[in-house]
Amino acid sequence: MEEPFADAYVSYVVPAGAAVLKIQWPHRESEHEAAALELWAGDGAARLLAHDEKRNALLMERCRPGTYLHQADSDDALRVLADLLPRLWRPTGPPFRSVAEETSWWTIRDEWKKTGKPFEESLVDASEAAFAELVTSQGEQVLLHQDLHSGNVLAADREPWLAIDPKPVVGEREFGLAPIIRGFELGHSRRAVLRRLDFLTAELGLDRDRARGWALGQTIAWSFGSKYQPRHIETARWLLEAGR
Ligand SMILES: Nc1ncnc2c1ncn2[C@@H]1O[C@H](COP(=O)(O)OP(=O)(O)O)[C@@H](O)[C@H]1O
Ligand SMILES: [Mg+2]
Repeated sequence: MEEPFADAYVSYVVPAGAAVLKIQWPHRESEHEAAALELWAGDGAARLLAHDEKRNALLMERCRPGTYLHQADSDDALRVLADLLPRLWRPTGPPFRSVAEETSWWTIRDEWKKTGKPFEESLVDASEAAFAELVTSQGEQVLLHQDLHSGNVLAADREPWLAIDPKPVVGEREFGLAPIIRGFELGHSRRAVLRRLDFLTAELGLDRDRARGWALGQTIAWSFGSKYQPRHIETARWLLEAGR
């Protein structure tokens, strides 16, 4: 048997020849991972070969060599992501959760209080205000990979790059830019964050201010419990300031 991959955070992943076996720790965000891979059917994402729902087990195509996209030059990586995103957008609905459900499940203000108010309240206010405005005025609802950072895009042979590890959600396209905009593995500075926002919205014909608001709120929501919270907070500040 081959050794499991070391970089698994909420799963156990072990290669088995041309396939990998992934056992997920049951987790709200990965609940419909198999359904998303199934919908993509190998188009831009690793192909699902088999799925045992009871055991939270997924057998999927192995990406070889499996190099992470963040090991590429960061401009090249951004280009790859801009090409990949539209291929993953598929009009769909249940079983995937909607962005509306997801944002109302996040309890940003409570988390912020419970964890000792680790940053300024204006970021909590801005996140809540962004969601209040954006949720009810969305465009077409498509499948989005809520965790499409460049450690979840691997070099493969069938295609140069394939997405793995979807945390699927259904919402407007702008929401799905959040993991890339805050993706510090592609550069952590005000300039790098705003460049990702500007580049992706221009390339993909999306609304910059909506993408900015979603990225700000999702970054704050996902910062709780993350060892990278200080970095995420900096990113959220840059995004807030970019709207003034
Ligand atoms: N289809 C695959 N092909 C090759 N390696 C994979 C594949 N899926 C996962 N891996 C490896 O396992 C690691 C963890 O898998 P991932 O699905 O990202 O789990 P987690 O949800 O724990 O982040 C990845 O970083 C990668 O190195
Ligand atoms: Mg991952």
